[in-house]
Amino acid sequence: MGEVNDESVQVPSATRSSRLPGFHRRSMEERWRELALRGDLTPEELRVLCAMDAPHLDVVNQMIENAVGVFALPLGLGLNLTVNGRDHLVPMVVEEPSVIAAVSLASKLVREAGGFLAEANTSMMIGQVQLTGYGDPELARVRLLAGKEQLLALANSFHPSLEKRGGGACDLQVRILPAPEGPHAEPLLIVHLLVDTQEAMGANLINTMAEGIAPLVEQLAGGRVYLRILSNLADQRLARASCRIPVASLAGLGTSGQDIAEGILQASRFARADPYRAATHNKGVMNGIDAVAIATGQDWRAIEAGAHAYACRDGRYGPLTNWTMEDGHLVGRIELPLALGLVGGSIKVHPGAQLGLKLLGVSTVRELSMVFAAVGLAQNLAAVRALGSVGIQQGHMAMHARCVAVTAGARGADVEKVVRLLMERGNIKVEAAREILASLQAPLPP
Ligand code: MEV
Repeated sequence: MGEVNDESVQVPSATRSSRLPGFHRRSMEERWRELALRGDLTPEELRVLCAMDAPHLDVVNQMIENAVGVFALPLGLGLNLTVNGRDHLVPMVVEEPSVIAAVSLASKLVREAGGFLAEANTSMMIGQVQLTGYGDPELARVRLLAGKEQLLALANSFHPSLEKRGGGACDLQVRILPAPEGPHAEPLLIVHLLVDTQEAMGANLINTMAEGIAPLVEQLAGGRVYLRILSNLADQRLARASCRIPVASLAGLGTSGQDIAEGILQASRFARADPYRAATHNKGVMNGIDAVAIATGQDWRAIEAGAHAYACRDGRYGPLTNWTMEDGHLVGRIELPLALGLVGGSIKVHPGAQLGLKLLGVSTVRELSMVFAAVGLAQNLAAVRALGSVGIQQGHMAMHARCVAVTAGARGADVEKVVRLLMERGNIKVEAAREILASLQAPLPP
């Protein structure tokens, strides 16, 4: 990469605009230069980004067992996002074409209508302890609840600094669940330990607490503890985002705003009525959330597990977003559990995750959750906007043609020329791209 001015002024990312018109048309070097000039990344951070061999093999070797290398995926920037009046560049690690273009386009639509509004709960996570052989379930419940303060104090003794910072174990519930084998088997007695994990996702600390209180649970209620582990259905840690777009400004794709809105409402009805559709609808939501989760070092399997379990909370799988018409505006809403962290996990050892968080420019984990929720809603808006009108293949085909052109060997300005000719011919195959490329590169006749 070219030289980057080491004295670029450092302004927190979120105070800078997420509008970067024409970014997609620039070369990689021009994009780096722009990030440096805006002060999104320091020269040193840009060097890590450009080399993109990070994390180093010794870091990888600390992260997992039997490490043999690093598997790279593309990192891009979702643009135009504004949440609660603040702009965020959205780092996204994703292999699927169109995801970043889609989130940027939908964010632009929403931005022009005032941006996303979002909110998030505190970082309340649930640790589960399973007790068996306790005798009378009601008596066991009473004994455990009588020992609540003792159990909470014991849990907090494993992470005293968390409690000092205003978090820690703060409540305990006892749930008695019907046995899956039928009424003659022992009901399940599950203790829920509620822990405010503050800026951490919290898996490790909750597991430590759940394991730590298990002997006291046995002592108070009798019986034997089996599982002691967090729940990924983090339904006390929800994030919500919404947007409100005047119908007229939805016009596009050769379709009126009214027609686009109608298509989106139909998509929403379809997902509410049919789990087969809801699964795909939510896959689209998670296209965005997973991509930013990976780019910022989050446990995306935990996020996925929580999201889909939450989508089933009424006993039937449903969509994570909902679209309605209110006073001439299309209104979108999303709500889902987001167990995220700004500290702990792989974040501090993975240089890419640190860069991702720097680019995103959030200062608290709650703000991070709000941005994730907005990204999920934007991604869904882009999908249902296209699905309810022209379909998604038109956009996908152009991206697919770009991959085909590159696979055929096209580089630089040739890529767009090959793409255009492939699309015109309607035959998007590597062989056809090779022929086009050869004809472009053939010497002109004298
Ligand atoms: C493709 O990765 C995601 C979509 O299928 C989402 C949707 O159908 O809503 C386009």
